[in-house]
Amino acid sequence: TDRYAVIGHPIAHSQSPLIHGLFARETGQDLVYEAIEGPLAPAQGFEDMVRAFFAAGGRGLNITAPFKLRARALADDCSPRARLAGAANALKCEGGRILADNFDGIGLRRDIELNLGLPLAGRRVLLLGAGGAARGALLPFLEAAPAALVLVNRDVAKARALVAEVAEVAQLPAGEGAPLPAAAVCALQAVGYDEVAALGAFDLVINATSASLSGALPPLPSAVFRAGGSAYELAYGKGRTPFLQLARAAGVQGGADGVGMLVEQAAEAFAWWRGVRPSTTAVIDRLTVPLD
Ligand code: ATR
Repeated sequence: TDRYAVIGHPIAHSQSPLIHGLFARETGQDLVYEAIEGPLAPAQGFEDMVRAFFAAGGRGLNITAPFKLRARALADDCSPRARLAGAANALKCEGGRILADNFDGIGLRRDIELNLGLPLAGRRVLLLGAGGAARGALLPFLEAAPAALVLVNRDVAKARALVAEVAEVAQLPAGEGAPLPAAAVCALQAVGYDEVAALGAFDLVINATSASLSGALPPLPSAVFRAGGSAYELAYGKGRTPFLQLARAAGVQGGADGVGMLVEQAAEAFAWWRGVRPSTTAVIDRLTVPLD
């Protein structure tokens, strides 16, 4: 029986053991997946815990808050998207080397495109935030070739720095950089909340800030929402957040939270570890709490 786990702090409410347990049952894979409480201190405790897990024969780890940056830093090698995100949410060990990837952004893209039926190609997309969650979404989103991908953040300098980083990654030789369509980087720009209304309405507005965790609302003008367009809230289990309420009041029909993203990133990690892709629909249905 192969061993997998998720490490975070706090970890008690993690849904990952349930999700991977369902995947293992569906695909007939012989594995166990547990939740491990990560250390709060001392500074080095997390790295030792990861190395001890692999040294004892563990096959793969998911990493959640607050350790994603440290997981990326300790890895011997990592994917371009994890490098740009500066963070990893999955690790595996091959030939004694620890490999890191970040499936959050691709999980979000798959939920939007496949489960919600909203292809990103040619769409105008507004992404709120420039923290870890937004960083992770950038490469997968640009690979989908949206007509526009606008980052809006309170700290505009942070968002602009991120756009500059993407431009650098896109210029790296194939293999080291990201396989981005040529137009993708042109589609990307960063603005402040006071400038965004001038850009018109967007087909899809995604809240990747941490505002909803405290019930707060980013200072977003409702002109960014297109009537009949879509809104996506990364925070899950928070019900209809102030962001989703604003979107609905502005005529947005589709409002989703991050449950589908959570299950899709898990499926990507499962496929990376096991070489078998589980189906996600039944698991998403099981975890979904209706927003109304
Ligand atoms: P995460 O890893 O969840 O993205 P983070 O790295 O701490 O968390 O980033 C939080 C993001 O949410 C930031 O982009 C932050 O904006 P600033 O960079 O301007 O601080 C954004 N954020 C948090 N609370 C917010 C609020 N009330 N309104 C708007 N943006 C908010």
